[in-house]
Amino acid sequence: MSEVKQLVKDLAEEHGREMESLLPILQGIETREQHISQEAMVEVARELNISAAQVYGTATFYSFLHTKPLGKYVIRVCKTITCMMHGKNQIIKELENVLKVELGATTHDGEFTLMETNCLGQCHKGPAMLINDTPYTELTPEKVREIIMQYRNEEIHAN
Ligand code: FES
Repeated sequence: MSEVKQLVKDLAEEHGREMESLLPILQGIETREQHISQEAMVEVARELNISAAQVYGTATFYSFLHTKPLGKYVIRVCKTITCMMHGKNQIIKELENVLKVELGATTHDGEFTLMETNCLGQCHKGPAMLINDTPYTELTPEKVREIIMQYRNEEIHAN
């Protein structure tokens, strides 16, 4: 039995095989695998005896669930009001340029995923972002370029 099949089976045994078990099972897969693959979705559908379309619909409905693998480094730029007023759009634009990736997507080399998030509690030092668990504040386009360069040079290692 493949690892994913086993994981889905274990989660179904833990949470049950009812319709209301679907979300906790998907969350369990997300926690373990960082995303919900097509194989996992098919397995969930089989275990719960529902259609793969139902599973896919739920997996894509919630923003905390991902159906594609995330990058090694997940960048989350704060989109909340204070950071917005302090130029978070410029920060996103710079990240899109430097990484050559659109918001919500992952670079071709699988290194970086660019996302937005809600307030990071660093409002007095906005604009702010997280790269994995590390916060970066008082961002400027120049600072963002330097930070990405450091990651690319592997000067910084994510936790
Ligand atoms: Fe961006 Fe709070 S508004 S960190």
